[in-house]
Amino acid sequence: MSHDFPVQMAHLAKKTGEVELDVPAPHSSGEGAAAARFARAQQAAIRRGDRVAHLYELVDGRRASNGAAAGRASLTTEITENEGRALIIAGASWVGPAEYRPVPRPHIERIRIRGFRCIQEIEFPLTPLHALIGPNDSGKSTILEALMGAPRSNAGAPSEMTTFSNKRALTCGPPGVFEHGAQVEPNQAIRDNLASSPSPAMLALASPVRMVRLDPDAMRQPTSLIAQGNPLEYGPRGHGLAAVYDAFLSRRLDVFLEISKRFTELFPTARSIQLTNHSESTKVLGVELKDGRSVDAFRLSEGMLYWLAFAALPYLNPAPLILVEEPENGLHPSRIADVMRVLRDISNISQIIIATHSPLVVNELQPDEVTIITRTPERGTIATPLSQTKNFEQRSKVYALGELWLNYADGDLESELVADSTIPSTAG
Ligand SMILES: Nc1ncnc2c1ncn2[C@@H]1O[C@H](COP(=O)(O)OP(=O)(O)OP(=O)(O)O)[C@@H](O)[C@H]1O
Ligand SMILES: [Mg+2]
Repeated sequence: MSHDFPVQMAHLAKKTGEVELDVPAPHSSGEGAAAARFARAQQAAIRRGDRVAHLYELVDGRRASNGAAAGRASLTTEITENEGRALIIAGASWVGPAEYRPVPRPHIERIRIRGFRCIQEIEFPLTPLHALIGPNDSGKSTILEALMGAPRSNAGAPSEMTTFSNKRALTCGPPGVFEHGAQVEPNQAIRDNLASSPSPAMLALASPVRMVRLDPDAMRQPTSLIAQGNPLEYGPRGHGLAAVYDAFLSRRLDVFLEISKRFTELFPTARSIQLTNHSESTKVLGVELKDGRSVDAFRLSEGMLYWLAFAALPYLNPAPLILVEEPENGLHPSRIADVMRVLRDISNISQIIIATHSPLVVNELQPDEVTIITRTPERGTIATPLSQTKNFEQRSKVYALGELWLNYADGDLESELVADSTIPSTAG
């Protein structure tokens, strides 16, 4: 993707709309995440098909004059509609024509699960990018599997699962799938004839669901190619990754080259990503090294494979809900922020729910984007939003979110975090 001025001008001639966005300057907002997003927006290239926004920096609440007309930022600070959305979430205000305002994509705002394996009843809010943290065996994967609707064992589906969005609720239970008002209990909605067939808008929030639970051995397997016209997909374990990269080569060369460039920056021994024939109809992923030798997927490092799978994720067939198990697996700590940036970008299009054990993943999130999952023998699984844990206000001034968690976690009941939290009990 080119940042050349003439290319940008050619793109501007074809844009579908022009918008203005006031962005709090990072130094005045004092917020690390907002600063990072601002910096990213500044570096962003203009993408085909997206609307273009002009960014204005605010100094003491007024537009900074940077030499351009009326304080308009230079071309290098133009951003895409998706990045505009991320900036609004980070606190930017909209001053452009209302019809071009990037509206937040609808997402599941809250979930309630009743009667599923170790879950008696839990209910908690979700955000477009959200992480579940907490001890082993507390029920994080169980929550993801309830959302998946395709349990890995034959332990059955939740006896009741309700997803809430925009004051409506969608319940899946023994009577089937139905929609009702968010304030009405599902069985009361049925009793009072308030339940209706699910609307396409509610169903579209979570179907199809993509599970990403990567396994290096699956990613290494030779795979048949994706036929022209078929959607780009790899399996939940990453099986088919080679076929996705092969399809990038033939269908999305710009994507292949962009990923390849970043890959060789991050892994300096590599010269390029390679695809080699394994049989007449299958290929495997590999890497050409700077010294000219080739390494095929069977010997490729696990971190490289994990990174390649996350780098490809934004270009797969879009899924409204993506569930990611432990995105930190196999990655060096300095690569985790890179993967989280990919997930943050995708969360403008798809809702992403992560189960993680990594404070570095949590450091990349906002307080309302993290829920602590714990479990007691009496109550089963319990969900506590991180922002509602003990003394959160004071503690979050001292610690980054990941450090806060690490500092007070005990890996069992997390009682230094969760006990006496302001959240009322939702179970029993
Ligand atoms: N039908 C059931 N009734 C009660 N408990 C169950 C049932 N099925 C599974 N469990 C328990 O639920 C536990 C929670 O598992 P889950 O995989 O969700 O934990 P987790 O939080 O993802 O843990 P980890 O961090 O180790 O991945 C399982 O270890 C199992 O003991
Ligand atoms: Mg798990």
